Amino acid sequence: MPESIPESLQARIEERLRYYEDLGIRLFYRDRAASGASLATSALTPSQAPSAPIREESSLPRPKSKVMVPVSAEPASRATPVVVPSGPSLFEAVEKVKDDTLVKIREDLGDCTRCKLHKGRNKIVFGDGHPKAELVFVGEGPGADEDAQGLPFVGRAGKLLTQMIEAMGLQRKDVYICNVVKCRPPENRAPEPDEVKTCSPYLLRQIDAIHPKVIVCLGAVAAKTLLETTRGISQFRGEWQEWRGHKLMATYHPAYLLRNPPAKADVWKDLQKVMAELGLQLPKKKSS
Ligand code: URA
Repeated sequence: MPESIPESLQARIEERLRYYEDLGIRLFYRDRAASGASLATSALTPSQAPSAPIREESSLPRPKSKVMVPVSAEPASRATPVVVPSGPSLFEAVEKVKDDTLVKIREDLGDCTRCKLHKGRNKIVFGDGHPKAELVFVGEGPGADEDAQGLPFVGRAGKLLTQMIEAMGLQRKDVYICNVVKCRPPENRAPEPDEVKTCSPYLLRQIDAIHPKVIVCLGAVAAKTLLETTRGISQFRGEWQEWRGHKLMATYHPAYLLRNPPAKADVWKDLQKVMAELGLQLPKKKSS
């Protein structure tokens, strides 16, 4: 006789399974409840509420990849370079800061008034997560929820991003999440070139300080900013790029997935390549 589970938990399991189905994962093992680190249970862990204080890196080892068998994926060496237009690079002029840390970068940013976005913001959304994460997600810019809380990706799109991270067998605290611009653009418009240019040095310093193995650009603004390209994201999403010594993958923004759920399958394919690069695999459960 199977043990009964509370209705609220059952509802959450059902919701989670529907989400996996949306991602194209349909094969589950019958004894899924038995496995400690199972996909279903890890995804059901209450969301690791991202905390505003920046964690000092010295006490924190880089999070270890959990399960080490790579899933099939395009090798990173088959990277298709995105053509970078000629002209001065956004990042060339950024001076490397010796022994830079997220704490220093946040201090340097201060109560920033360097661009016009400061006028309408409530909180600067610097970034959140593990200061030595192997995986960094870069979004576009804060929305209303993020502006109110001072944390990246905490609204509807953020909840979907959290589900995506958990579907990879990770938790938000294992990765680092930040945006191209740190202040909310009015009416959620796309950040303008002068705003991107002003904020980019801080993003670059964040990435340099974390030194992740993989960067995932969420959406066209992040991808076009980092890769300094005008190509549409659909032309190169899911393909490995080399960016300043890091592997970079562009994929669709979670907000786009909320409007266009069938694209979740593409994003899941992209994330599986990222998992392979990081030595992560969907946790397997024993069949009975
Ligand atoms: N969209 C983004 O690009 N970033 C956030 O932090 C939230 C929504």
